[in-house]
Amino acid sequence: MKATLITNIGELTTNVGTPDDPCGTRRDAAVLIEGERIAWVGTSAEARALGLGRDPDFGAEEVRPDVGNPPRTRHEEHVEVVDAEGRAVIPGFVDSHTHLVFAGDRADEFEARMKGAPYAAGGIRRTVAATREASDDALRRRLRSFVAELHAQGTTTFEVKTGYGLTVADEERLARLAAEVTPEVTFLGAHVVPPEYADRRDDYVDLVCGAMLSACAPHSRWVDVFCETGAFTPEESRRVLAAGVAHGLEPRVHGNQLGTGEGVRLAVAMGAASVDHCTYLDDADVAALASSRTVATLLPGVEFSTRQPYPDARRLIDAGVTVAIASDCNPGSSFTSSMPLMIALAVREMGMAPAEAVWAATAGGARALRRDDVGVIAPGLRADLVLLEAPTRTHLAYRPGVPLVARVWKDGAPL
Ligand code: NIG
Ligand code: FE
Repeated sequence: MKATLITNIGELTTNVGTPDDPCGTRRDAAVLIEGERIAWVGTSAEARALGLGRDPDFGAEEVRPDVGNPPRTRHEEHVEVVDAEGRAVIPGFVDSHTHLVFAGDRADEFEARMKGAPYAAGGIRRTVAATREASDDALRRRLRSFVAELHAQGTTTFEVKTGYGLTVADEERLARLAAEVTPEVTFLGAHVVPPEYADRRDDYVDLVCGAMLSACAPHSRWVDVFCETGAFTPEESRRVLAAGVAHGLEPRVHGNQLGTGEGVRLAVAMGAASVDHCTYLDDADVAALASSRTVATLLPGVEFSTRQPYPDARRLIDAGVTVAIASDCNPGSSFTSSMPLMIALAVREMGMAPAEAVWAATAGGARALRRDDVGVIAPGLRADLVLLEAPTRTHLAYRPGVPLVARVWKDGAPL
């Protein structure tokens, strides 16, 4: 089995937290990876004392991350040693909210918004029209290039939604293509009512809850609905989520993006894993979230790209709500896949401490996806790690826009 020792880690964010330090920070740390999993976490001195990384036959090879992959293993039990040289290591980012299967471009809408035009849910229909026209191969190529973009920026687990097909056949192929790249596929047939159903929205909700759901459920883990003015009413949303649950899917909700409304309370009532956006919350929403298992997933790329006010993460965290941050990468409201940018925005604009933002982008995302094998660095969990070109995780917010991801491992393999 291939083994890798990362040693001389100046600051290791394990997320095996305590009330005082939710990031479970360790200094001068070392992590041993065996196969796809983390085998051991300790200090660099302990690693030396245990003789980890020293092959009795061949001796250890010191590998500098900046000079690429090491010479191939010469012995089955050989341990590749990566000297972090005092730099920081964090868990791979868990981006729990993306819309990565689509065609087309809406840069013109972004330009108009920067001149003062508001964001409206209706723009989704332009991407639907372009996506319906695209071949499977074209969609697949674009999706794969987004996946490469995510990996290069340190994201090792990500969710992908359907929602730009809105016919049975198109939603099915988006779900199928998404399932080629992630187990976290979300059926979002209830994204908006497509134009051909504009005068008979009840028929569209019937279709979503019937044939469309049946076609997509085999490729999907989650069911989502855009519960918002201009998209689906709370009653329609409840129907869609209930139908999804009856098909074995787990619910999540787009809610409270464009104004206050029922989205958050519906998500809590349905036991949703997460309610995403949460831009406009009243006190009852915050209280409902605080007394639930539903994660509030904040998407600061949307506020950045739509000029809406940023949600107050401090208010949520202080009330005891579990907060995740995600990119919402999509061509309309947030065309970025950068989790480091989300961290910088969360710190600068939403009242989060750097440690809280990094936690929310890793362990928080894992909670939002109900995953207990990622987002945390501990023995037995998946070896998804990021070596930063920085001494501390704070640099992700302190040095916005700078590519600080030096090296990424997913399932124990360098990406
Ligand atoms: O999460 N809110 C709904 N859906 C996306 C926007 C999609 C689009 O504008 O194309 C979102 O922001
Ligand atoms: Fe979204």
